[in-house]
Amino acid sequence: MRVDTRSARVAMITAAACLLAAVSLRGQADPAPAMAETVFKNIQVLKGIPADEFMDTMGMFSASLGYDCVSCHSDQIYTDRSAFAITTPLIQRARQMVVMMNTINRTFFGAQARVTCFTCHRAHYRPEVIPSLALQYGELLDDPSSMRIFPDPRGSVDQVWDRYVEALGGTQRLAALGGFVARGTYDGFNTGGNPFPVEIYARTPNQRTQIVRTPDGNAVKTFDGRRAWASEGWRPLPLLQLTGGNLDAARLEAMIAFPATIRPAFTQWQIASTLIDEKPVQILQGMNEGQLPVNFYFDASGLLMRTLAWNRTAVGTVPIQIDLSDYRDVAGVKMPFTIVSTWTDGQNTYILSDVQANPAIDAGRFARPAPFPGK
Ligand code: HEC
Ligand code: HEC
Repeated sequence: MRVDTRSARVAMITAAACLLAAVSLRGQADPAPAMAETVFKNIQVLKGIPADEFMDTMGMFSASLGYDCVSCHSDQIYTDRSAFAITTPLIQRARQMVVMMNTINRTFFGAQARVTCFTCHRAHYRPEVIPSLALQYGELLDDPSSMRIFPDPRGSVDQVWDRYVEALGGTQRLAALGGFVARGTYDGFNTGGNPFPVEIYARTPNQRTQIVRTPDGNAVKTFDGRRAWASEGWRPLPLLQLTGGNLDAARLEAMIAFPATIRPAFTQWQIASTLIDEKPVQILQGMNEGQLPVNFYFDASGLLMRTLAWNRTAVGTVPIQIDLSDYRDVAGVKMPFTIVSTWTDGQNTYILSDVQANPAIDAGRFARPAPFPGK
């Protein structure tokens, strides 16, 4: 039943072109995000959610069961993206599971998402029913990726920020960096593992655009300071507006480009310590009323090594992780030259080779991109 992850993801892109032709450009003039049931052909239980959130529910399914897209979907998706609409026995089963899960939450947990696919499945298609003695008597592990942190009453949030700013090059140099253009490569399941050229344009306080030069055209992702879009061949739509936690994640990517903007973006901060790869790490958790928190991880050098954000979907919350490493000097400011972005639908690695500080950037760079060219 399990299929090699890589080949399944590759299928997603080879099949993308077919889908592009099949999907209408409805919603292009209308800024409201497209709903799943208007974009896809056979939606029976996951109605009334935006298309980008729908794709995250698929990521939630895959992550929760340790499955790939093709584990549930027909293997015709390798050649024909519209085959995602074919009902297989496992799709039928998964639909029942959504109904069961919603019934449990509604009946016993005041309609809050206390039980999700992951609660039972824990990355396996068949939930374990017998308790494990190894777990019972094993060491208690503190999961550094958890949204629940154990605040350290002796820790100082100010100290971690001050060290971070100092490690980056100091307040003045940070303030002098108003924008940059970075060049390098981008790869992931969605590029079939091939490194494609990428350019990242960023401008203070919070605008960021990336352009991946794929053989089929330019894959553009933009955050204009308020709204975000993806015009990428591997997405389910030629132009996908990002909503909810995906919009917040796009905002976070722009924030990371200008670290001085991170702290004021949250009204409340907590501090905790943990170990990652057996090395001590400090976690600052930023919170805003009514939103999910964001975790920021600082290594022994004081630099930001990871962020972890979350997106609420109709079937539970999914994590979005960004790992930052290989910090190098750009105009007196340390910038990460290797960035790995991981979420339930895929993983991408950016390896930068050249960053130009404070270039002139046309304002149009951050505007809503044109839909990805169809074939
Ligand atoms: C656990 C099973 C499962 C896995 C794994 C899964 N899906 Fe699905 N998928 C479903 C179900 C169930 C539906 C129908 C949802 C509904 O009826 O509301 C669906 C529907 C879809 C649709 C809509 C098709 C249409 O036109 O109606 C797309 C696109 C899709 N999935 C993509 C994916 C991708 C991409 C992946 C891998 C990242 C994936 N799915 C993984 C169960 C799964
Ligand atoms: C309350 C616990 C529970 C929850 C929540 C739950 N499942 Fe399941 N699921 C099960 C059990 C039990 C089975 C049956 C396993 C077996 O056959 O032994 C199962 C089986 C399945 C199967 C069949 C797997 C296979 O390969 O045979 C799919 C697909 C599935 N679940 C999808 C989901 C999805 C998607 C969600 C979230 C919407 C979900 N489940 C939530 C308990 C749960």
